[in-house]
Amino acid sequence: MSKPVLFAIYAPIVGDTTSPAFGQADAAEPFVNVMDLSVTRGDGIFETASVVDGHIQALEQHLARFVRSAALLDLPTPDAAVWAEAIRAAVAAHEPAHERFVKFIMTRGIEGTGIPTAWAYVDDAEDFTEERTAGIAVVTLSRGYRHDIAATSPWLLQGAKTLSYAVHKSVLREANRRGAQDVILTATDGYVLEGPTSSVVLRIGDRILTPSTDQGILAGTTQASVFEFFESEGLVAEYGLVTVEQLAQADAVWLVSSVRQAAPVNAIDGVALPVDFELTNRLNTALLARTE
Ligand SMILES: Cc1ncc(COP(=O)(O)O)c(C=O)c1O
Repeated sequence: MSKPVLFAIYAPIVGDTTSPAFGQADAAEPFVNVMDLSVTRGDGIFETASVVDGHIQALEQHLARFVRSAALLDLPTPDAAVWAEAIRAAVAAHEPAHERFVKFIMTRGIEGTGIPTAWAYVDDAEDFTEERTAGIAVVTLSRGYRHDIAATSPWLLQGAKTLSYAVHKSVLREANRRGAQDVILTATDGYVLEGPTSSVVLRIGDRILTPSTDQGILAGTTQASVFEFFESEGLVAEYGLVTVEQLAQADAVWLVSSVRQAAPVNAIDGVALPVDFELTNRLNTALLARTE
């Protein structure tokens, strides 16, 4: 395993003229102040992008989502050009490997200062061969609110990629207790939402479906590439409301996300689901070969 690489971003927001705008820091040394609101409140935003053979996948889309998350949290606007340059420099400073990831974070900063703390780090990715080939068993768990929460209660920040992921980890432990590896979160009014760190994609006959992102879920960068793949295969890919009944009747289901890519679902709530290994294999090959 190579050593993780850390870059501090000194000029993370639009209008900040601090020079240099970023620089390498020691990933083995403490970096975040104990009073930082990310530590004390989970108050900040992040993104994780795949790095495959040196290429940072969907960087533009990740940066666009980062900027959207900042706006939802009333954080200052990240300077996407500075972040892109810093992220590329961090990847270049890391020992090459087939699959890596870059995670970038901007917090609300040390309480009372109003100055965001910002960094990016690069590390080797886990080996997800098993999940991509044998697939994963999932359980459905309720998120506890309706599918229209983003419209009715935007202050709950559903749809922003915040650092508050304790619930996202808790649902995985509940899945493990139930003998599964991952989760499909559902709304109280019967709709499928997303995984705790992934988007849900279904195949029903010749149609590919994913929940539309006006339902308090993240607009997945991987899901967008998955749609391109299926469209190139001649299938119709659609966004919409997806019911729990449709999920149970789907011909195939995948949880798709950066780094792990497409994990085929082989069981939902203890009921086996067939995995199309050949199609999934081609899908993952296409995802790993992305050039944008
Ligand atoms: C809640 C949630 N939904 C969806 C995704 C998938 O997004 P992407 O494909 O851009 O990684 C993630 C990724 O971490 C996530 O945390």
